[in-house]
Amino acid sequence: MSVAATNFDRWIRSSFVEMNTALEDLYFERDDPAQIEGRGDQIKAELLSEGQSLIAPLAAEGNTEKQFDAAFDVLGNLGLFLAALRRHELTNPDRETESPYRDCSALGMHIAASIGVAPRFATAHLTTHNRAINGVQKSFTSLHDERLFLNYNLYGILGYKRAGAALMRIPPIGVSAPGAALLLEEAGAALEQVTRSNKTLFDNLDVARFFFCIRPYYKPYRVGKDVYRGANAGDFAEINQIDLLLGLCRGNDPHYAQILEEKILFMMPEDQQSLRKCLGMRPLLDEFLALAPGSAGEPWFQKNCKLFLDVCEAHGRTASQHQNMLVRKYIEKPADNVNDRHLKQITASGPPLPELIASLQHLRDLRMAAPRDDIETAHWKLAALRDALGK
Ligand code: HEM
Repeated sequence: MSVAATNFDRWIRSSFVEMNTALEDLYFERDDPAQIEGRGDQIKAELLSEGQSLIAPLAAEGNTEKQFDAAFDVLGNLGLFLAALRRHELTNPDRETESPYRDCSALGMHIAASIGVAPRFATAHLTTHNRAINGVQKSFTSLHDERLFLNYNLYGILGYKRAGAALMRIPPIGVSAPGAALLLEEAGAALEQVTRSNKTLFDNLDVARFFFCIRPYYKPYRVGKDVYRGANAGDFAEINQIDLLLGLCRGNDPHYAQILEEKILFMMPEDQQSLRKCLGMRPLLDEFLALAPGSAGEPWFQKNCKLFLDVCEAHGRTASQHQNMLVRKYIEKPADNVNDRHLKQITASGPPLPELIASLQHLRDLRMAAPRDDIETAHWKLAALRDALGK
């Protein structure tokens, strides 16, 4: 890492966190914590000028080292800074047609174009690729609830990655292989891990702190002329690999294909590659259905198909937790009590809340293979497999 990159990183891990935390405390003690204008103006000005002065030498340098890790890290730090400016209303895509921070935008776009990702901070910057120093990873604030949120995002992602990696090993050996049973068990155990960590997050994260002091850092912001949506914990490949390999979601379903298309640049390049690879694989559901007529009575079918159905159920359970517990408790319910003006862009992906909720419910129902008249889910196909097993 260059001297300029090291200096910026040190600042992001220290003064930046202190200033954001001080601002959050000032906002949070107000009767209406969503009303942030006119609070902490001096701190906001320091945050802006200190960040800009550290970014100027980086912008001049560009991505000259041509090292992926270093460049990706600088992009993340830059993104954290811009997300904080957005959070403190020092920029707002609705008021502007172009980001007022031209140096930052130029640096972000330069790095992003050279490494093949979106020019903003992504989930990986705060989770899987967030290097700890002396036990502390990067964050916007030092609030206990933010650390909790980030830790449990990472645990959830790691669980899904474990499940996705196991499932990806099945197509080359086929669903009838004895090893497929081992891999399905591994995927099921990994999804159980996600269920447990989601539940712990649900039991421990403070609603008001999350809604008023953490979530606002995930708003969309502009880089150059374009608005980029906020990061979300779903920006990694394996969640979709699980969907596709199980056969609960389909790459040729226009709703689902749109999700894949939209998120691909928010993923790490290696995730982009493995998602593309997965799109060329035949779903396990289709394999089992094709083999059921001749093999349903075989011991391998009885064992592996049952394990497969258990994995589908476990995946549906994590999806229902995400929607019915996390999204409902931490976004939908608190949003009911907030003034419409503040509600705007409360979601990281940008669309109005009811639209976002409907889209997330659609995904949940695909993953749960719920019976729905209006959209095609795997409900009947899974029922056919259960019949084949004699259950
Ligand atoms: C307080 C906790 C959480 C809340 C309130 C929450 C809320 C949301 C919301 C509103 C979205 C839609 C995009 C956006 O506007 O950001 C989203 C997307 C997503 N989140 Fe979470 N989330 C939470 C924790 C988690 C955790 C722990 C995971 C586990 C990895 C996770 C996985 C996902 C995934 C995979 C997506 C992309 C859409 C999908 O494929 O389902 N979330 N989340």
